[in-house]
Order: sequence, then structure tokens, then C-alpha cells
Amino acid sequence: MIPSIEWLEEEKKVKMIDQTILPHELKFLEFGDYRDVANSITVMNIRGAPAIGAAAAMGMALATIEYKELPKDKFLEKMDEAADYMKAARPTASNLFWAVNRIMKIVKNSSGTPPEISEEVIEEAQLVAQEDVNVNKSLGKHGAKILDDGDTVLTHCNAGSLATVQYGTALAPVRAAIEQGKNISVIADETRPRLQGARLTAYECQYDNIPVNVIADNSAGLLMRLGKIDKVIVGTDRVSSDAVFNKIGTYHVALAAKDNDIPFYVACPTSTLSLEDTVDDVEIEQRDPSEVGRILGKVQAVPEGVKCLNYAFDITPFRLVTGIITEDGIFTPEEMLKKYKQ
Ligand code: MRU
Repeated sequence: MIPSIEWLEEEKKVKMIDQTILPHELKFLEFGDYRDVANSITVMNIRGAPAIGAAAAMGMALATIEYKELPKDKFLEKMDEAADYMKAARPTASNLFWAVNRIMKIVKNSSGTPPEISEEVIEEAQLVAQEDVNVNKSLGKHGAKILDDGDTVLTHCNAGSLATVQYGTALAPVRAAIEQGKNISVIADETRPRLQGARLTAYECQYDNIPVNVIADNSAGLLMRLGKIDKVIVGTDRVSSDAVFNKIGTYHVALAAKDNDIPFYVACPTSTLSLEDTVDDVEIEQRDPSEVGRILGKVQAVPEGVKCLNYAFDITPFRLVTGIITEDGIFTPEEMLKKYKQ
């Protein structure tokens, strides 16, 4: 796959795929202002926890460029403002906060001048992106071990290459297993209301010759019962000390998997861990209700005037999770807490 986001060093710009118009058009956007990058996260030109993290880091690099001629105290003040602005782009994915905090640590700890700090931050933002690809490849290598030749993997939303800088999280084990010569196919939940499964997972699977079938969100339970799904692998926006936050609908998939004795795995780079949080600390994003009532902004499916609720993420308790796949290996939730919780 083409990287979903990259830093253009000569132009000092951020380039990203506009995911709102896939699969109809592969178009790239370029931004030179951190506010536009924050907005691209809010309106979901770029989405998926790790891709949001990379975008935020690059956006912060743009902020350093904008403010680097200011005296250092003013520069630091403006960078604090930029950090708050960036963090307000979306509330649930840990990677956004993780990436902004990582950049701000450099801004605050550096003894350099603002232009020197800007250079450091630009390098760090590129490192965030590069690390993401490496982490996803490791995660894929570990995750491929759970996949047997001939397996069909159900996934929800898009936790593939498009949701990361490249290679994906939930789709990384699938990609790695296929690279090892195993026959693996994917079933993608369509993922109402924004159809990330139907539009994006299907697009990238087709692009990379990964066999895929798209199903309506309400079909997964039946397909499990019919023996057509061997494993479930989903991505995550945040893992707290007691649950997995992922695209709305994930919880139902996990319940159905439990009831049908199908392993349910969560692919989670350590940048998505937020183990100091419990479920009560995490804000579940609520998006514009019209995303539910008006399909892809085009077809009014709900009578005019009827209200809709549009929660973007749900909460899957650890008791429904077979394993959490990180770049370091595969862990039960208990093992994961033991390894990563300070
Ligand atoms: O609202 P989105 O499209 O940003 O939601 C994305 C997901 O829920 C993904 O599963 C998650 O971010 C993991 S991405 C590797």
C-alpha cells in the first residue's frame, strides 16, 4: 500500500491520502498549517489511531516552523497552545495524545534555540512515522503465528495500512501470514455509519490482492455459527487497564465470538496502550448524528426530524479478549498488564 501519510521535507508539508473519498478516488492532500492537520483528523481525511498519531506529530512539526522565529518563552507558549489545539482534534484514540506529548517532551526539554528545536521536532515526527511501520511489521510477525493456512479472519472497521502509516495493525498478521505463503482470507464488517470496512478495508485488500468479502455489520454472528470465521482480529484506539476501546460494533463481535468459541484478538501497538486509564477516564467520541441518519451524507434513511445517536467507539471488556498482539508478542490481557503496567 501507499503510505497513508508522509512528511515532505523540501516543501515542509504533510501529505496524506484523503480517506473520506475512498474507494472512489485516490487523492492526496497537502497541509502546511498545523490547524489544517488538526482539522483533517477531526473530519477524518486521516483516521485510525496510529495514523492520527503520525499526523499529530507532523502537525506539531509544522507548528514549530510557524513559531521558530519567536523568542524562546513566546515559542514555548505558542507550542503549548498548538498542543492543546491538536489534542482537541478527536477524543478517544490514545495515539493522538501519545504523539503530541512525545513531541512536547522534546520542545520542553531541549536546551536549543527555537530553530534548533524545530529541526529536532521535524526529525522526531518522521521517526514516529518510521517507527509505526516497523512496529506494525513486528506485530504482524507475531500475529501471523495464530493464523493457520486456510483461515478466514473477521475484522471490524479499518485497522489496516490506511489506519496506520503503512502495513496496518489488525491486518498486519494477515499480511505477514500471506507473505509466509499461507492462504488467508478476510471478512470485513461494513462498519456503519462511516463504512470504514466496506470502503477502506475492502479497498486496501483489493489493492494488495488479499481475498476479502464485505458483510453487513449484523451478519457476523451468523457467519460464526455457520463456521465461516476462524479468528477475529480487530485494532484498537485505546487499551485501558480494564478494557479495549475500538470502533462501535466491536463489542458485539467479541460477544458473538465468545459464544461461538472463536478466538478474539486485539492488535495493539504499545503506542495505543493507556494503562493509567480505566474505562471511566475515557471519552467516547460522539459524532454528528446525521452520519447515522443520512448514509454517507447522501441518502436520507431516517425520517426527517427523527433524532439519531452516533457513538463512534465501544468498550470490550478483557474477559472477551483471547489475546492482545503487540510488537513484542501475544499476551493475555493479564500478561499484557503485567508486562506494560508500571
Ligand atoms: O473512527 P476511526 O475510523 O478513526 O476508527 C478507527 C478504528 O476504530 C480502528 O480500529 C483503530 O483506530 C485501530 S487502527 C489501526
